[in-house]
Amino acid sequence: MGEAGGWYDADIQRVIVSEEQIREKVDELARKVAADYSHVDSVMLVCVLKGAIMFMADFARALGREGCRIEMDFMAVSSYGQRATSSGVVRILKDLDRDIAGRHVVVVEDIIDSGLTLSWLLKYLESRTAASVEVVALLRKPDAIKVQVPVKYVGFDIPTEFVVGYGLDFAERYRELPYIGILNPGVYARA
Ligand code: IMP
Ligand code: MG
Repeated sequence: MGEAGGWYDADIQRVIVSEEQIREKVDELARKVAADYSHVDSVMLVCVLKGAIMFMADFARALGREGCRIEMDFMAVSSYGQRATSSGVVRILKDLDRDIAGRHVVVVEDIIDSGLTLSWLLKYLESRTAASVEVVALLRKPDAIKVQVPVKYVGFDIPTEFVVGYGLDFAERYRELPYIGILNPGVYARA
């Protein structure tokens, strides 16, 4: 499945987005964001842990290559209730380190599914009086339309299937995959 033959390849049924497609898309998104923010001193990237870490790391460097100055901050949130269905009620596990008042914030997200987490997060960031808040999401699922969340920059629209890799996990595993794929049904049976 994967190019190099990682331990995980046997667990992957299908690659949805390849390593190369990710690389090209990250560069493309960075070019857009760098152009849109060319008038600001620096962009405050806010990464939502943990799923967005790979994207954050690659996206930040791509912005740097485009001549865009950035700062990084990290938030960790968790939704109450069932793991499989997002309730929209969010608890902050790790808050921002710095004040974002007057800053141009770009939220870096791995994937927008129901959009409930993001919808809550945007209200929270706006309440902290950022000068502007936009979202860049590598992936988006069709259900995201249910909640009207304005996501300005989207990498890939993917089908409503559970995906892993490039930061996204199943039970904390598969985050290190360099691509995004769908697990073999047997993996769930083992879990
Ligand atoms: P929602 O948009 O509030 O439903 O939740 C989005 C979050 O759920 C993402 O930031 C991911 O952490 C997680 N998530 C959603 N879909 C998937 C998936 O297919 N694989 C792994 N994590 C997912
Ligand atoms: Mg996430």
